[in-house]
Amino acid sequence: MTSVTSLSGPAANARPFLHGTELAAISRVLQTGQYGHGPETDKFERELAAYLGVDAVVAVATGTAALHLALLAAGVGPADEVVVPSLTFCASVQAILATGARPRFVEVDPATLCVTPEYVEAGLTAATRAVMPVLYGGRAVDLGPIRDQLAEREIAVVEDAAHAFGSLIAGGHVGATGDLTCFSFDAIKALTCGDGGAIVPRTATEADQLRRARLLGMTAPREQRVRTVSYQVAATGFRYHLSTLHAAIGRVQLAHFDEVAASRRRLWRRYADVLTVIPGVTVVDLDVANTVPFNCVVRVPSSARDAIHARLHAAGIQAGVHYPPNHMQPAFARWSRPLPVTEAVASELLSLPFHPGLTDDDIDYVAARLGAAIADERAAPDRRSATAAGQHGGR
Ligand SMILES: Cc1ncc(COP(=O)(O)O)c(C=O)c1O
Repeated sequence: MTSVTSLSGPAANARPFLHGTELAAISRVLQTGQYGHGPETDKFERELAAYLGVDAVVAVATGTAALHLALLAAGVGPADEVVVPSLTFCASVQAILATGARPRFVEVDPATLCVTPEYVEAGLTAATRAVMPVLYGGRAVDLGPIRDQLAEREIAVVEDAAHAFGSLIAGGHVGATGDLTCFSFDAIKALTCGDGGAIVPRTATEADQLRRARLLGMTAPREQRVRTVSYQVAATGFRYHLSTLHAAIGRVQLAHFDEVAASRRRLWRRYADVLTVIPGVTVVDLDVANTVPFNCVVRVPSSARDAIHARLHAAGIQAGVHYPPNHMQPAFARWSRPLPVTEAVASELLSLPFHPGLTDDDIDYVAARLGAAIADERAAPDRRSATAAGQHGGR
């Protein structure tokens, strides 16, 4: 696999990975003069559907737009609640609020950072209209044990699979299980369109509804509209379409996706190997055999996490934190509830640099600096007490 990216150094937390032919693809589409939703978008949708093994995919402008439209398709609206882990990107929560519904924040399993069927079940109320599992790091979430209960109560599953394009569940792809599944193709995702997203609908009728909703509720795309004297607005809609320019990037990325998936798996395994020997580090497991890893997240002692983060940045390594819990965000305070497991684990998290541009040496370097930062932090209180003892003895 050859990359043409030189957008930032290997120590960046994440960065786009380009294959080199994206520019020619954009240039080809520029010359067609069709930049909104167009034939290139339709081709991208068909190729995504073929890759995932599903009947249809609806491409949209962003993963956030995908979640918003999918929730609306599931019938979510004001007075409803949507069960969602607090430990997710704020986009999941904003998409819920955009429908007028309320988020019902629930805990995650500290080992996987994903919801469990038990936590989802504990979050159900009479007002629950949908549950939104977040496939953290790309790991599939199996809600098997509560499926029947959700179906009986007519509660939809809207998967936030922003991290999980290409991952597997039950031998098929995430997105092929019959739920409404939403992907993000933003700049740092394993498959990028620059910005983009997609929804896997549950039925052909739902696909039609979503296609209308992403184009302001109009019944026909532009190339058909320009041949008629009028157009029909048949439903509420948004300007959420995926442009042909973004679709052109996505098509190149999809053609190379299996190489990227293999590279991400290999790099994640390398991290896991070198990190297991470092005291104080726990790698968050993402079931790499079935997952196309989005990131590499570790847990470190919470009392030292911020200092370790600062030490890594001082060494030029952009560690991150994914995510500050949403129930503690000011904008979501109205829906906050005690979530001790989430608060405890969130204070331990560090995301290490992760993207296909990394070399084995980069990974070894990051791991070595992480080990040194933890050791330095462990020694720091001893140094302080040794100094204090020395001062006391000198008096
Ligand atoms: C978990 C999660 N959900 C939703 C989104 C939103 O996707 P987008 O940035 O394409 O709107 C992201 C983006 O990073 C995400 O990480």
